[in-house]
Amino acid sequence: MKLERVVTCTAPVNIAVIKYWGKRNEPLILPTNSSLSGTLNQKDLKTITTAAGFKNENNTTGEVELILYLNGKLDANSQENQRLKNVLREMTKAASSQQSQFNTIIVVSENNFPTAAGLASSASGYCCLVYTLAKLYQLDWSNEQLSIIARQGSGSACRSMFGNWCKWEMGQLEDGSDSKAVPCVSGKSDAFAQEMEILICVVSDQKKHTASTDGMRNSIKTSSLMKERIEKVVPERMIQMEEAIANADYQTFSELCMKDSNDFHAVCRDTTPPIHYLNETSFAIMDLVDFYNKVLCKGQNGVAYTYDAGPNAVLYIHGKEHKQKFAKLLQQVFEISGNTTLEPIDLNEEWKIKATELKEKKHNQLKNWIETTLGAGPQIVSTDLSDQTNHLIHLQTFVPK
Ligand code: PMV
Repeated sequence: MKLERVVTCTAPVNIAVIKYWGKRNEPLILPTNSSLSGTLNQKDLKTITTAAGFKNENNTTGEVELILYLNGKLDANSQENQRLKNVLREMTKAASSQQSQFNTIIVVSENNFPTAAGLASSASGYCCLVYTLAKLYQLDWSNEQLSIIARQGSGSACRSMFGNWCKWEMGQLEDGSDSKAVPCVSGKSDAFAQEMEILICVVSDQKKHTASTDGMRNSIKTSSLMKERIEKVVPERMIQMEEAIANADYQTFSELCMKDSNDFHAVCRDTTPPIHYLNETSFAIMDLVDFYNKVLCKGQNGVAYTYDAGPNAVLYIHGKEHKQKFAKLLQQVFEISGNTTLEPIDLNEEWKIKATELKEKKHNQLKNWIETTLGAGPQIVSTDLSDQTNHLIHLQTFVPK
């Protein structure tokens, strides 16, 4: 087996501020609405993937053999994973005009997320796989084109192809060729991304109890709110959200962000059987954000929450000062260790009582938080065949490190 080329890349996690919920075509993963997300900084959260291409005389099948290691384990199920197979088929198709010199590829992929982050890894994982294979094959495809393939692994993966703010345009075509990610770069959007601070409040690190594909299917079948969301609410909100980002208008951004999260979870509750992704701690964080904005900031919002298919809150915060203050508040109310040195914040009577109640409930508590910012899209780390440090496999023995 002769190593011909090796590439290592990284890709970010993204968190939607206008949620994707619903597929109009399940195999192709075509959504029922467009969505918009912020891209988290890879300094704190990322997937890293190495792809090594070999000329292997023992492979006489005429097909490309793929050996996949995910988070330190050989992924024996990769043949049964239809989405992974779809992505690999599309990548092989894309590379077919490329006179590829490989017939065996080893892929090693790992997440650097803190184990207790409770974050879904499929978005950064599929984005990184597609991006790394494209660089291995030396395809001159744009990230927009690659997002169409990443989408077929996990819908939200397409939005990890760009930094800062990214929109997934739902598209209209049946073959999905116009359902792709595009960066949101108009007006002051980049400056607005720089101002943003992110706190991920980890309430649970358990796997979500209703898989998103099943939940989406049931919402489409049974929720009347879903119909309203798809046809009216999201199309209007997408325009308003893009405008708010382009104008660096945090007040409008924060209102839309929280409203969309609330609407999405209302659709979940309106589904039969109802889907409950949030728990008491999630609701307490929502109330605390509300108290912070309304009482402490007198209606000039400084914090916005959003929740995906689980109880963890992701907070989009307007600048460092608000982040410090809100972290202090979380620390006071949930009694967890934090690194803020601020003086305790004055809680009103209602919150003094609430904080005591929350402390008495030992279950459902806030476990920790992760601080980050927004950041860049996928990056190439190394394509150097003699690089001994950056690739995830040993280049002499071809085993994962
Ligand atoms: O891409 P999936 O199948 O993991 O779906 C993600 C759906 C939400 O996270 C709930 C919303 C979103 O837009 O990311």
